[in-house]
Amino acid sequence: MLSVAILAAGKGTRMESSLPKVLHKISGKSLLQRVINSCVELKPDQIFVITGHKSKEVQKSISNEKKIHIVIQEPQSGTGHAVQILCREVKKNEGKLLVLNGDVPLIRPSTLKRLLYLHDSKNADVSLITTKKRNPQGYGRVFLKGDFIERIVEEKDCNDLERENPLINAGVYCFNWGKLSEIINTLQSNNNQKEIYLTDTISMLKNSLSLEIEDNGELQGINNRIQLSVCEENMQNLIKEKHMLNGVTFINKASCSISEEAEIGKDVIIEANTHVRGNTKIKSHCIIGPNTFIENSYVGLNCEISNSTVYASHIMDHIKIGPYSHVRPNSKISSFSKIGNFVEIKNSQLEEESKVNHLSYIGDSIIGRSTNIGAGTITANFDGQKKHQTKIGKNSSIGANTVFVAPINLGESVTTGAGSVITKDSKDNSLAISRTKQVNIENWERKKS
Ligand code: UD1
Ligand code: CA
Repeated sequence: MLSVAILAAGKGTRMESSLPKVLHKISGKSLLQRVINSCVELKPDQIFVITGHKSKEVQKSISNEKKIHIVIQEPQSGTGHAVQILCREVKKNEGKLLVLNGDVPLIRPSTLKRLLYLHDSKNADVSLITTKKRNPQGYGRVFLKGDFIERIVEEKDCNDLERENPLINAGVYCFNWGKLSEIINTLQSNNNQKEIYLTDTISMLKNSLSLEIEDNGELQGINNRIQLSVCEENMQNLIKEKHMLNGVTFINKASCSISEEAEIGKDVIIEANTHVRGNTKIKSHCIIGPNTFIENSYVGLNCEISNSTVYASHIMDHIKIGPYSHVRPNSKISSFSKIGNFVEIKNSQLEEESKVNHLSYIGDSIIGRSTNIGAGTITANFDGQKKHQTKIGKNSSIGANTVFVAPINLGESVTTGAGSVITKDSKDNSLAISRTKQVNIENWERKKS
């Protein structure tokens, strides 16, 4: 039987934040969600999340996972106190209890599996993950005696000599739950922080083992925003290295960010200052960026998107977007189309080979195949209460500065005169024009004042 307890009740004072520490994010996911996701991979029988500070907010952030039980720790008197409450609330303290600090977000399932394996094979009372840090500041120091851990001393309780010890406690423990519950209530808070430390259980248990692993960034704990940014960088490096090994070029890696879920095809070039977020898929041979943001979108083969923003949209193959375009949610841009300078597209469908090259707003529209939208064209889709649709048939040629007052429906091969305000539907092959004729008054002199 395997139970997991994630400690997430603390405020995170050193974050200087109104958001609970475990809800701060790394590459789009909260610290807590990352720890939960790693634990779920172990297929435990039950997961307890210990919450306290802003408990409701923390609970709301957790994705629906049936095995998760919330335990409330009030007040938050230390990591040992959190586990005391857990042991009291859960009737059966049996099997293994894996305890993880909710602020160690990059812990890998494979490392947790190694810990469980060591624990089982040595029949330990407790085993925990340790590493040697070049700068161990802030962590509890782990002291060994032979093959066993003798004790853990928190940084704030260390004397000068103890502080020199580079072997630290990562905050990830596997307990024999029965043995733990026999001693958990004897913990005291006679230390410099006046807290009940979980780490004090180690010297009370007999068979305490250390799984020392190399410091590869995985065990970085987060107490402040400097450490948050270190973790973000570690995470981003891992993600980008994966893509580079799969055939993606980054022109200026440090200035880009890529979500964990993103899929990027071969021979894609990611230019500087480009951010690929959420569930985005980019197919091969695209050039994305510089200065581009794409979220929850699909981008087909051979597209070029520069200096632009794309949200929740579908971009097919061989499409050029930008510079300075904004494609808003629920747009579908078909192959060989072009969206140019200072163009906004929203909830619209552009059929193949259509062009919206300059200074336009196209909202709630369907634009037919090979239609050209002249510079400055606007679909006036909002009547003050409702949004309406604009439909323009294929092979049409829309004059510069046309305004479509939706709802409006134009046939195929329609031409509109530049500067027209179009309020009526028009049939196939027609010219729609609505502007006063130009008058030339000859020999006209300006009035003298
Ligand atoms: C803790 C360890 C330290 C270890 C380090 C690893 C103790 C006493 N110290 O120190 O040995 O090197 O983690 O990162 O455990 N929490 C609660 N309830 C509380 C207090 C804390 O749930 O009453 C939660 C926090 O939300 C956090 C985690 O426990 O997720 C760790 O607490 P934190 O205060 O950050 O401990 P550290 O000082 O980092
Ligand atoms: Ca911590």
